[in-house]
Amino acid sequence: MPKWILPTLVCLTLVALLPAALISRARNSHSSTPRINLVPDMDYQPKLLPQTENRMFADGRAMRPRVEGTVARGQLQEDDHLHRGRDAGDWATSIPYPVTQSFVERGRDRFDIYCALCHGSAGFGDGIISARADELAQLGQAVWTPPTSLHDPTVRERPDGHIFNTITHGIRSMPPYGSQIEAADRWAIIAYVRALQRSQNATISDVPEDVRPTLR
Ligand code: HEC
Repeated sequence: MPKWILPTLVCLTLVALLPAALISRARNSHSSTPRINLVPDMDYQPKLLPQTENRMFADGRAMRPRVEGTVARGQLQEDDHLHRGRDAGDWATSIPYPVTQSFVERGRDRFDIYCALCHGSAGFGDGIISARADELAQLGQAVWTPPTSLHDPTVRERPDGHIFNTITHGIRSMPPYGSQIEAADRWAIIAYVRALQRSQNATISDVPEDVRPTLR
């Protein structure tokens, strides 16, 4: 074997590895200049990214604020009773949906998610958040307004529309839930709250006549 073959082979092997080494370096290093992009596809498009500038508008913002007074299709909310709990300038005194078994069950489902944590699953104002806050308050580590018992006479006498408004906008130290609970579900919750209240204040007239003799 001639003497030059071995060094030549070594050199060629090293040169052959060079592209792989360069590629791997490019893939694993950081650079402030754009990479060489042989197939640009749709990588570069004329578009405005969020939080960037657009001189076309006087305020220079690319992100446009909502045009005042616009309403999404189907969201005009014209029904004062359904969307605001108001009826002829006063609090509505009825639920604008048929109160069926499934409607009340939907209400229980939503109540258990959104209200029970503070008001307790039976509405006595003894939810787990409230219990924990009471503990902290006793240690002097929290200031806490206890959630009203939903069996309180004032709440029992509140018109349905007033409770609707309480859920939508909150009241005093209770936060609003209007943005999280759809109007129909807010009414379903009220139907369930009424069922809870009735469960604690039933009279003999609530019991079907044929069952009354079995009561003791
Ligand atoms: C984060 C805890 C919390 C949650 C969750 C919560 N509430 Fe309350 N709620 C309160 C507190 C606290 C009060 C008493 C507010 C006060 O007196 O400052 C209250 C008061 C009320 C009242 C009495 C208002 C009145 O007329 O005086 C009603 C009714 C009520 N809540 C219903 C609900 C319903 C229905 C839900 C579920 C959609 C709910 N709350 C979820 C904390 C909560």
